[in-house]
Amino acid sequence: MTDRIEITRPDDWHLHLRDGDMLRGVLPFTAAHFARAIIMPNLVPPVVTKADAIAYRTRIMAALPSGADFTPLMTLYLTEASDPDDVAAAHGEGVAAAVKLYPAGATTNSDSGVRDIAKVYLVLERMAAIGMPLCVHGEVTDSSIDIFDREAVFIDRVLDPLRKRIPELKIVMEHVTTKDGVDYVASADKNLAGTITTHHLIINRNAILAGGIRPHYYCLPVAKRETHRLALRKAATSGNPRFFLGTDSAPHADPAKEQACGCAGIFTAPNTLSCLAHVFEEDGALDRLEAFVSLNGPACYGLPANETKITLVKRDTPIAYPDRIETGAGPVTVFDPMFPVHWEVET
Ligand code: NCD
Ligand code: ZN
Repeated sequence: MTDRIEITRPDDWHLHLRDGDMLRGVLPFTAAHFARAIIMPNLVPPVVTKADAIAYRTRIMAALPSGADFTPLMTLYLTEASDPDDVAAAHGEGVAAAVKLYPAGATTNSDSGVRDIAKVYLVLERMAAIGMPLCVHGEVTDSSIDIFDREAVFIDRVLDPLRKRIPELKIVMEHVTTKDGVDYVASADKNLAGTITTHHLIINRNAILAGGIRPHYYCLPVAKRETHRLALRKAATSGNPRFFLGTDSAPHADPAKEQACGCAGIFTAPNTLSCLAHVFEEDGALDRLEAFVSLNGPACYGLPANETKITLVKRDTPIAYPDRIETGAGPVTVFDPMFPVHWEVET
């Protein structure tokens, strides 16, 4: 039985770090295990311009624990007023790795997002020309569409037409949560990849709703029924280079989640790799964990894989994670996978 694996140091291709006290509280957990992360720009106000991204990157670097080896890969928040020249300059000068499309109103802090996709065609065409990827929150916001169907409808109404209109645009469909999403990404001819979160491999919608309402399992896109979770597991553990890890670790202080209208977001940074090793072992795919967390992402983004390694060790007794961490912005509950975790990142 394998009880120790060494893999290339992983990257996280979708991460929320926030700002200020929350940034300082959560960043050390990601920096401890990951070499790079795609940093989501949904601050208030959002990170829209090259100048915004430079300033945010400086704040992240200042919040890093001393000796940490971590590089934030910045993204720009796409608005209908985004300037193609500024976006291209941010990419050309190595400031921003990608642009993020939030349909307006789709999720936390997405009010400044895109209402009419036609209004951003010029930016998207420019990105296609320079090879800058677009990260997509793939949900429609139409209130007449059931929340569990919003990803599938987004593919038909927005993503597929966009790919036909600008086929050279590289698109990452982030946090895929459905079999529809998995099948769409897997069947694309080119320029499409999908990230999958840790929690969507582990929970289905029962975790949120059965036996009481559990706000710490609520995120967007919302977890779907079991058939979808199984499709995600199959895709993640398949080794298919189109799929890779984007944790979408999204910290909110507990009082903001535990209320009548709680925020969406699950904080998985501290135990993500332990949970993933468990998932991949359970599916007989430990030998494909490295592809999912360390190799497929950089290949898709046109970056080299990391040169350093990490080791995961399977302990005889379950390892203990804190239920919540304390930050200067309040306590943040850590994702509970509801199974004992034996895999630990050796430090
Ligand atoms: C994210 C957040 O809190 O910023 N929430 C979430 O549920 N994933 C936003 C997002 O990525 O949708
Ligand atoms: Zn997110």
